Amino acid sequence: MSQIHVISHPLVQHKLTQMRRAETPSERFRQLLNETSLLLTYEVTRDLPLVTTEITTPLTEMEAPELVEHPVVISILRAGNGLLDGVLQVIPGARVGHVGLYRDHDTLEAVEYYCKFPPIEGKTAIVVDPMLATGNSAAAALSRIKEENPAEVRFLCLLAAPEGIEGLQSAHPDVSIWTASIDDQLNEVGYIVPGLGDAGDRIFGTT
Ligand code: URA
Repeated sequence: MSQIHVISHPLVQHKLTQMRRAETPSERFRQLLNETSLLLTYEVTRDLPLVTTEITTPLTEMEAPELVEHPVVISILRAGNGLLDGVLQVIPGARVGHVGLYRDHDTLEAVEYYCKFPPIEGKTAIVVDPMLATGNSAAAALSRIKEENPAEVRFLCLLAAPEGIEGLQSAHPDVSIWTASIDDQLNEVGYIVPGLGDAGDRIFGTT
């Protein structure tokens, strides 16, 4: 069954508060999101399996741990790209996929317009999108990713609405979620409240 991990680390919470402030400009927002994504990645990868390998240090030989394999990172366009750089700073060996979905503003349903993945079969996929709002885009992206037969899928976001968590868990009960906050609710047009506004607009300076 899906688990929810709320990342309560003080640095994450502090940076999130700065991101929530309406007056925080795009440049600063991007920087904060990048810094936060390093810390979120630390948590989402905490239990990745290790294998012991024999290496030689300048002093001696030893058995040392290293990752069995790198996870694949999938960004849900476009706001997912705001998390991607930070994730790749921590896991530079990861291969990256993108899936593009737009939210129909009338139905709030997700419609796919772009999809390009590296090999995912048998691997752990970490799917990144800052906002888990209705959960429709995330659920559609996860369905598409699962067609590639990953061994495991993890969902990493910055903010989640209770409605999005419920939607994602009922569509994908096997996918665990990592988030910095579970906010109060969605408003009538599908924004997370209190939230931080439109993450894509905040990252890229669009309106
Ligand atoms: N997407 C966003 O960028 N913000 C929200 O509050 C909800 C969905």
